[in-house]
Amino acid sequence: MDRITEFACAKINICLDVTGKRDDGYHSIESVMLCVTLADLVTVSFTDRFGITLDCSDDTLPKDEKNLAYKAAREFFSYIKREPNVHIDIIKNIPDKAGLAGGSADAAAVLRALNSLTDACLSDEELRKIAESIGSDVIFCVSSDPSFVSGRGEIIEQADPLPDCTILLAKGKEGVKTPGAYKALDEMFGDYKEREHLAQKCLEAMNSGDIIKIGESAFNIFENVTIPNAPEIQTIKDTMLNDGATFSLMSGSGSAVFGVFLSEADAEKCSTKLKESGVWTSVCKPIL
Ligand code: C5P
Repeated sequence: MDRITEFACAKINICLDVTGKRDDGYHSIESVMLCVTLADLVTVSFTDRFGITLDCSDDTLPKDEKNLAYKAAREFFSYIKREPNVHIDIIKNIPDKAGLAGGSADAAAVLRALNSLTDACLSDEELRKIAESIGSDVIFCVSSDPSFVSGRGEIIEQADPLPDCTILLAKGKEGVKTPGAYKALDEMFGDYKEREHLAQKCLEAMNSGDIIKIGESAFNIFENVTIPNAPEIQTIKDTMLNDGATFSLMSGSGSAVFGVFLSEADAEKCSTKLKESGVWTSVCKPIL
């Protein structure tokens, strides 16, 4: 086998809290994360020449080490102490700067693909170790199971999946850069000690399987700083709630919003309405 295609699934945060600043410059987070069926397609193939090359259906994305998928290949080969000789081809479906971990999912897909293509046979733990050197969300994306994620994103505990539902993803024109969003949070919350940390409640609700309870406990701390600068996010959330979503939240540091619908027909109707107003949407399912 000299070529393999992996799905790189988008992630959403059912809750996302920041609980403190760390000495390494990162923040401690607590989050319930899961993947949905919206995915990029990442094909990795061996080449005759040494090096890493990358093609992407989205011309605006970098094709060098600034692309996390490229970085993943570099780090994987460095870990197994081999000279790289691969081409990566990405068909992008997940929007950029959305809080859906599109770039991280591509990087994790490259790690999984290379682990199958080469005879390295790295354990999940080793793959997660390499992922840690690429980006915080890459660690979760390696396994992609519903999880409670803490630390800077490297502590992963399995959580129960969402009950059967349909997820509507939507993103307006604004995109959000993650470092700036963390900086704005620091200005608002200081050392984060005054806040009550509620992610455990969300995890308990997930494990109860009661979608109403899950909706009541779902939250995203980044909404506090992102929505005031991008009111379109609130408009999209309101549209989803008015159109039958059980709950709706921004994902990650934004700007994508997801709505959890018990009726697929309602999700499709809401998707059509949002599309007509120029919003990107995707109707998908949670991955169990
Ligand atoms: O880990 P990653 O490179 O994806 O993170 C991008 C940026 O987001 C970091 O440089 C940092 O500013 C911020 N970040 C953070 N704490 C985390 C994850 C990300 O401060 N747990």
